[in-house]
Amino acid sequence: MSAPCLARGSPGRLALANVAADILNNLPLAELHCHLEATVEPDDARIFAKRNSIDISGVFNDQGDYHWRDFKEFLDTYDAVSEAIRTPQDYYELTLHYYTRMAARGVIYGEVFVSPEHAGKFGISYTALIDAVAAAMREAEAKSGIVGRIIVTCVRHFGSEHATATAQLAVDHPHPMVTGFGMAGDEAFGAAADYARAFDIARDAGLGLTAHAGEILGPESVHEAITLFHVDRIGHGVRILEDDALAAAVKDWGLTLEVCPTSNVAIGLYPSLERHPLPALVAAGLKVTLNADDPAYFDVDVADEYRKSAEIHGFERERLAGFTRTAIEAAFCDSKTKVELLTRLDRN
Ligand code: HPA
Ligand code: ZN
Repeated sequence: MSAPCLARGSPGRLALANVAADILNNLPLAELHCHLEATVEPDDARIFAKRNSIDISGVFNDQGDYHWRDFKEFLDTYDAVSEAIRTPQDYYELTLHYYTRMAARGVIYGEVFVSPEHAGKFGISYTALIDAVAAAMREAEAKSGIVGRIIVTCVRHFGSEHATATAQLAVDHPHPMVTGFGMAGDEAFGAAADYARAFDIARDAGLGLTAHAGEILGPESVHEAITLFHVDRIGHGVRILEDDALAAAVKDWGLTLEVCPTSNVAIGLYPSLERHPLPALVAAGLKVTLNADDPAYFDVDVADEYRKSAEIHGFERERLAGFTRTAIEAAFCDSKTKVELLTRLDRN
């Protein structure tokens, strides 16, 4: 793969980085919930679109940012922007770009959702996709120590047959950096039971499991993810506090929540970060991690999430370190890697 030539980021982002550095004071961070295609900033999407002769001008607003007004429109924009990413080289570049930036922000471990269904639409094979993303992760690790892993992800609104086929691809082509299987997309699309087969296939192959639930829909979708998919982690899950018994069960079973506060506010789930249930989830003794979800859409990264949680909810450094510890403990990587990561955390 050749060297990337993507945009370097806006001055606003650099200013934020300085503020965060003060508050976080070199605390190692970890992220479990981030969609790879959503790490592509609008400037880079324009570079990819131009390079691949694709017209995605309809996805931008007058300011040149991604345009969407609600969750459905967000998913449509996301799918449309993903169409500008057409080659393994594109995936290599955007992955290297993201991991390099996150390493500079203090992230020592990051899992990303990678969607073979988006990439496959334009002829990128599963193995070419995974090889490109993995090559970039390895390069980023060699340069800056950040460790990456891939969660192969199906997209609920693309249908259950695709979901099953995606799980099967991951199982038929095992790769050391592919350690999880997940489901993103429209939580309300189709019947959950239809997707259970995909999770069965992935589980039998030893992949860690996570599904978006309790974001758009209420506690019942978390209940389905647990009872039908037998997930290890819940993507979002923030609405479980609406059902005390379910929250208690999630706690007893030790399931980890991949909480993405800024994403939840951006999508309209909560009116502000101040009104987000993050403190209540922590107070309930649930296993909580902090994540950016869709950084380029919500103008946030995981370091921002840590910093904002300290500023808005008053979390101390020990609590912030607790988010990293929980993320490493719940990570879909081998135990030797976890021990190494925890050692790095404990050194700070
Ligand atoms: N939620 C659900 N599905 C998604 C998202 C998200 O934030 N981003 C990409 N696919
Ligand atoms: Zn998500």
